[in-house]
Amino acid sequence: MALEIRDLHVAVDGKEILKGVSLVVERGATHALMGPNGSGKSTLSYALMGHPKYQITRGDVLLDGTSLLEMTPDLRARQGLFLAMQYPVAVSGVTLYSFLHAATSAVRGYGDQKKSAAPGRRNAHMMPMREFRKEVDEKLDLIKMDSAFLRRYLNEGFSGGEKKRAEILQMALLQPRYAVLDETDSGLDIDALRIVSEGINTLQESLQVGLLVITHYQRILNYIHPDVVHIFVDGRVVKTGDAALVDLLEERGYDWVRQELAAGG
Ligand SMILES: Nc1ncnc2c1ncn2[C@@H]1O[C@H](COP(=O)(O)OP(=O)(O)OP(=O)(O)O)[C@@H](O)[C@H]1O
Ligand SMILES: [Mg+2]
Repeated sequence: MALEIRDLHVAVDGKEILKGVSLVVERGATHALMGPNGSGKSTLSYALMGHPKYQITRGDVLLDGTSLLEMTPDLRARQGLFLAMQYPVAVSGVTLYSFLHAATSAVRGYGDQKKSAAPGRRNAHMMPMREFRKEVDEKLDLIKMDSAFLRRYLNEGFSGGEKKRAEILQMALLQPRYAVLDETDSGLDIDALRIVSEGINTLQESLQVGLLVITHYQRILNYIHPDVVHIFVDGRVVKTGDAALVDLLEERGYDWVRQELAAGG
């Protein structure tokens, strides 16, 4: 059981950004992906999720053995893949509550019952309100978020840290089998980083999530311990190792990796 990325090549607006990415994240494992700005980490996360702008020109992505490439983003989510975005988008007029309700209902297959719903029964394609509310309240507690947030428009005026918490709240409700967390630590204060990390760890343990944690800094990895660390440079994984690689990067930056590459190492 794994999320398997095989020789993935991705182009954006005709420009090749990913140049043959291969990596395997097993269920329950934590992989960290670190690399310089512009190396293609977010491109990888969008391509995995099926963003239409990211054109896969070669390779494959398999989730527990099934190729995702022909699937729309919502189908990928239903298969158990989740992406916490580096820059979550704001949607005016849609509250966080109604967004989460719709997303959770869709991923859990409530939409499928639409046609067979008893006549006159409203919103059969949505998870029952009371059941959902109860679950949201539990999950809010996990990330220490105030329920007043649910009435706010999605990400509109949210602080950096609030956006990140909202992403993890969404993850808690969607209960993915694999999650890509793109700089979930960015913008979090010291307490929030701990709370969010503990929330992620709790989810991982209860759901056996395979995690791909994209980050620039060691600090989140002090809470979410990576089993495997990948260094990403210029659109591909150039080095894979254990947590010791993180210390090495923190100490020496990326130049030595580039030098090794240039030397053909
Ligand atoms: N629409 C686009 N047109 C042209 N280039 C693009 C487009 N989208 C992304 N790129 C380029 O692809 C490269 C990789 O971007 P990406 O956002 O994946 O990097 P990243 O590794 O996530 O960086 P960061 O650490 O800063 O978040 C960058 O050079 C970026 O400018
Ligand atoms: Mg990025």
